Amino acid sequence: MPDLTLDGRALHVAAGTSVAAALALGGDGSSRTSVSGQRRAPLCGMGVCQECRVTIDGQRRLACQTLCRDGMHVETRP
Ligand code: FES
Repeated sequence: MPDLTLDGRALHVAAGTSVAAALALGGDGSSRTSVSGQRRAPLCGMGVCQECRVTIDGQRRLACQTLCRDGMHVETRP
């Protein structure tokens, strides 16, 4: 049962939860902000659209292709 932070807020999720699912469980579901300032969210769920890019422990990752781990820090805002 991983404990992580999402934009600085503590979040507890079930084992096997993807970061994309955690975005929906612990926030508004959005993953990033586009260059025009619009919030974006996971779309395809299978690693194709790239809309789910987030920063995890300082590295850009696809939320739909990453499982939550204990101690992970997920950021959706610059
Ligand atoms: S939701 Fe499309 S790449 Fe992750």
